[in-house]
Amino acid sequence: GTTQGAGGASTRRSHALKEVERLKENREKRRARQAEMKEEKVALMNQDPGNPNWETAQMIREYQSTLEFVPLLDGQAVDDHQITVCVRKRPISRKEVNRKEIDVISVPRKDMLIVHEPRSKVDLTKFLENHKFRFDYAFNDTCDNAMVYKYTAKPLVKTIFEGGMATCFAYGQTGSGKTHTMGGEFNGKVQDCKNGIYAMAAKDVFVTLNMPRYRAMNLVVSASFFEIYSGKVFDLLSDKQKLRVLEDGKQQVQVVGLTEKVVDGVEEVLKLIQHGNAARTSGQTSANSNSSRSHAVFQIVLRPQGSTKIHGKFSFIDLAGNERGVDTSSADRQTRMEGAEINKSLLALKECIRALGKQSAHLPFRVSKLTQVLRDSFIGEKSKTCMIAMISPGLSSCEHTLNTLRYADRVKELVVKDI
Ligand SMILES: Nc1ncnc2c1ncn2[C@@H]1O[C@H](COP(=O)(O)OP(=O)(O)O)[C@@H](O)[C@H]1O
Ligand SMILES: [Mg+2]
Repeated sequence: GTTQGAGGASTRRSHALKEVERLKENREKRRARQAEMKEEKVALMNQDPGNPNWETAQMIREYQSTLEFVPLLDGQAVDDHQITVCVRKRPISRKEVNRKEIDVISVPRKDMLIVHEPRSKVDLTKFLENHKFRFDYAFNDTCDNAMVYKYTAKPLVKTIFEGGMATCFAYGQTGSGKTHTMGGEFNGKVQDCKNGIYAMAAKDVFVTLNMPRYRAMNLVVSASFFEIYSGKVFDLLSDKQKLRVLEDGKQQVQVVGLTEKVVDGVEEVLKLIQHGNAARTSGQTSANSNSSRSHAVFQIVLRPQGSTKIHGKFSFIDLAGNERGVDTSSADRQTRMEGAEINKSLLALKECIRALGKQSAHLPFRVSKLTQVLRDSFIGEKSKTCMIAMISPGLSSCEHTLNTLRYADRVKELVVKDI
């Protein structure tokens, strides 16, 4: 009994010793790993000196290394949809790079985009929430306007010759690239309107007009350009004259007195666009720009020679910045009202496009001036529409970007396929 008991005690003692040693070893290992991690962290931080978001940037790089990137290539088939919803990511600008803005957007596939949102757990460890969105097309920051045009508005030119209505919307936060896409690339402050969607579409309208199939129809092309600001319509081709919108007994909506210039070629259209753009931005400072709070509508109309009846119409809309709609908490009453108006019009627009997709008779077009003037574009089997959701790539835009993508997602719900 006693020998056994003494042996048991020594076994227990050696067990306890081993346990102490094991704990010590683990502690040392843990400390060594912590020191290693700290060194790694310092090394990483030094790769990106002064960047407060280097940890997020690192997590994004790590996540991206697990993705296979298969971008949209010029020459890939253009799909035919009644409603096309796309997203365009603009490149990060020099200014943004200088203020250490980091890019939180990945475009792994021609129809998918991921927002890497940095978040913190309760114990403050950082992690990424990777939001995946699917669209008809996702344009990455290497795509130019010509490429975006090819897959969005270009297929709709045919629509207006075949007696339908077409619309192309640029949606997104101020600074995300709406005007760049629609009106043309900026070279500093000068805009080259030849490479914007307005001009590229106008060019194709004249090409199509001269095709044997359509030449015999003797169609006349005209163009108009107006702005909707705080629920009021202003003619950009006539000194921003304020215009009235009337609806007749048959629900036909008319912008009374809107300038509609007959155009014979693309050069004439370019002049109108330039004129309208100049009118749009005149008397504005960049800090307090009206253009971010107004919708600009450029229209190309086809009519049979000598007739007032519309054969087809293409409307291009550079929408008000969607962040203006959210900002209804402003102290300034005027700004608050404008925000509410923008909110209302963007929500109505979404419903009108959805109604078009369902060929639904219920169209909440009267809710806003924007949807009212575009009413005829949301009806009929032949009508087609495309929306380009523009996004800024920076971390500081993350919240607005997610709002933009959620809105576009509701316009046409496409299910995310796993990658
Ligand atoms: N795809 C792009 N490539 C290069 N620069 C772009 C692109 N999109 C926008 N930009 C630049 O970003 C800035 C904001 O673009 P802008 O079109 O004015 O935005 P928005 O009309 O949405 O407010 C402009 O300086 C523009 O030149
Ligand atoms: Mg703009």
